[in-house]
Amino acid sequence: MQTVTSLAELRARRRDLPGPLGFVPTMGYLHAGHISLARRARAECASVAASIFVNPTQFGPNEDLAKYPRDLPRDLALLEEAGVELVWIPTPEEMYPPGFQTWVSVDGLTRRLEGEARPTHFRGVTTIVAKLFNAVRPDKAYFGQKDAQQAAVIRQMVKDLNFPVEIVVCPIVREPDGLAMSSRNVYLNPEELQAATVLFGSLSAAKSAYDSGERQAEKIRAMVREIVGGEPLARLQYVSCADYDTLEELETVSGKALLSMAVYFGKTRLIDNFVLE
Ligand code: PAJ
Repeated sequence: MQTVTSLAELRARRRDLPGPLGFVPTMGYLHAGHISLARRARAECASVAASIFVNPTQFGPNEDLAKYPRDLPRDLALLEEAGVELVWIPTPEEMYPPGFQTWVSVDGLTRRLEGEARPTHFRGVTTIVAKLFNAVRPDKAYFGQKDAQQAAVIRQMVKDLNFPVEIVVCPIVREPDGLAMSSRNVYLNPEELQAATVLFGSLSAAKSAYDSGERQAEKIRAMVREIVGGEPLARLQYVSCADYDTLEELETVSGKALLSMAVYFGKTRLIDNFVLE
């Protein structure tokens, strides 16, 4: 496995990789969720590249950029074990040099849900992912269903800007108790970790209601609200039952839908979702 930092080195190494090339963009502090993307890429592509970059432009002013967890040696060992050939660790100076002023932003889809709660977040995500795609030129890029709206926004960007890349969305990897794996789970104390099972618990209950025939979106949302409301350490920011593609809130669930939520435990904000279909 080769590790590069500069754009020039990345481009030089990229040339030697046989196609199709699979690409896994990450912010590091890797867990089994990230590694599942790398393994899927390994299974589907001749070469696999990954990036590790804590992208400053997708963090809001009061978010956790400065204290975002990092462990590069461990990340590199995990990527090597997953069979990744090339790891790019861009520098903030090269990604955002002085005078940087060009942004990629997706309009409608980013106004809802995570975008409403984090108004500048997706512009940062699409800008960095566009830059990563331009440099790496992957044939396939792998994203997690954990960040369902991010995957939808990236798909829209790829379609609108004609990026020659196929977006592959992989299932959420969870802890044995159902908690979706996230680099941010390390911020939780033991009581909060226990309380955080309320995300999976409430989504599972709502999914059972859906499976038993409930189709009124508001009843499904209300069920999540009530269960989260019963957990004293949890503060629900939003619960949404929306069309899977447009992310517009539904009255009645008819086609494929996304049941998603964001919950605070102290200052830590967790997201999770289930697909209803
Ligand atoms: P990061 O949070 O590091 O996540 C990298 C990828 O791993 C994303 O596609 C995310 O959806 C996926 N992922 C995270 N947790 C997962 C889980 N439990 N199961 C399956 N997949 C999971 O998302 C980002 O970084 C950034 O926004 C990025 C796309 C790299 C742009 O900066």
